[in-house]
Amino acid sequence: APTPPPDLSSCSIARIDENQVVSYSCCAPKPDDMEKVPYYKFPSMTKLRVRQPAHEADEEYIAKYNCAVTKMKDLDKTQPDNPIGFKQQANIHCAYCNGGYSIDGKVLQVHNSWLFFPFHRWYLYFYERILGSLIDDPTFGLPFWNWDHPKGMRFPPMFDVPGTALYDERRGDQIHNGNGIDLGYFGDQVETTQLQLMTNNLTLMYRQLVTNSPCPLMSLVDLTLFGSTVEDAGTVENIPHSPVHIWVGTRRGSVLPVGKISNGEDMGNFYSAGLDPLFYCHHSNVDRMWNEWKATGGKRTDIQNKDWLNSEFFFYDENGNPFKVRVRDCLDTKKMGYDYHATATPWRNFKP
Ligand code: C2O
Repeated sequence: APTPPPDLSSCSIARIDENQVVSYSCCAPKPDDMEKVPYYKFPSMTKLRVRQPAHEADEEYIAKYNCAVTKMKDLDKTQPDNPIGFKQQANIHCAYCNGGYSIDGKVLQVHNSWLFFPFHRWYLYFYERILGSLIDDPTFGLPFWNWDHPKGMRFPPMFDVPGTALYDERRGDQIHNGNGIDLGYFGDQVETTQLQLMTNNLTLMYRQLVTNSPCPLMSLVDLTLFGSTVEDAGTVENIPHSPVHIWVGTRRGSVLPVGKISNGEDMGNFYSAGLDPLFYCHHSNVDRMWNEWKATGGKRTDIQNKDWLNSEFFFYDENGNPFKVRVRDCLDTKKMGYDYHATATPWRNFKP
């Protein structure tokens, strides 16, 4: 059956893991009458929002982006329950991923699931519109961390300036100094040259987007872009999506700035990932991979399964109004009003 939007009245304590609860509630504010929450309709638009690679952002863009995130964070101080505030936005991820919501008694988890791509697409869609509205720029597009291109294979510098809204102190040490990212990172630093690292990354991209994901669903086989059921992760979600989270977050078991022991915060744990502004830049590229995958051709098209197409989520728009959205309405980013700046994809030539 399709996954319905979460019943917000079911929202309860979220957990970091079996033994540990999140130390604050990540439930979204409840609309007065959930039954009356309408389906979202795309507002009319005159110009597509274009998402640019983070490493090419200029001063002006960086200033604008910082300003938008600052305004979002300021809302936390004055109106902590405002659904468009930074913390409330981050909590969406916690609620959908750490057991905040349940459906028919079963905990809702959008990861390791075919809901992964559509959930995050809708999540970023609203986040981007909220930022744009806070700075009165309806054309504002999120940057994407272009980690699939050699020029983007390090931490995007604009997020590493202490004292700015894009900074987060809960990150691992390896992100600094222009270190190359290993897209297959699961906690072990491999000693290798920057050149070899890039070649490995490009080969890995080819494997995940081409070799291992030839069609949307393959029965009983694990390897597709989407995963084959509501409880199965697809290729890109597994790698490089997760390794990028782990690489950016603090090392599990290390000591956090406040003296607590790290669970991978912020990026390396579902409950806290949205607290790092970098999250949305990382996921912008994950989302772009969905488009790139379809552009690769062959049988790489969206799933036609009705249970997937008719699954629903719940979000607040930039005016703080609640809406239900459907997976079937997020398959074409241009129809949603945004697109990605065309960028070379050298991994296409890295057939092993
Ligand atoms: Cu919802 Cu990158 O995780």
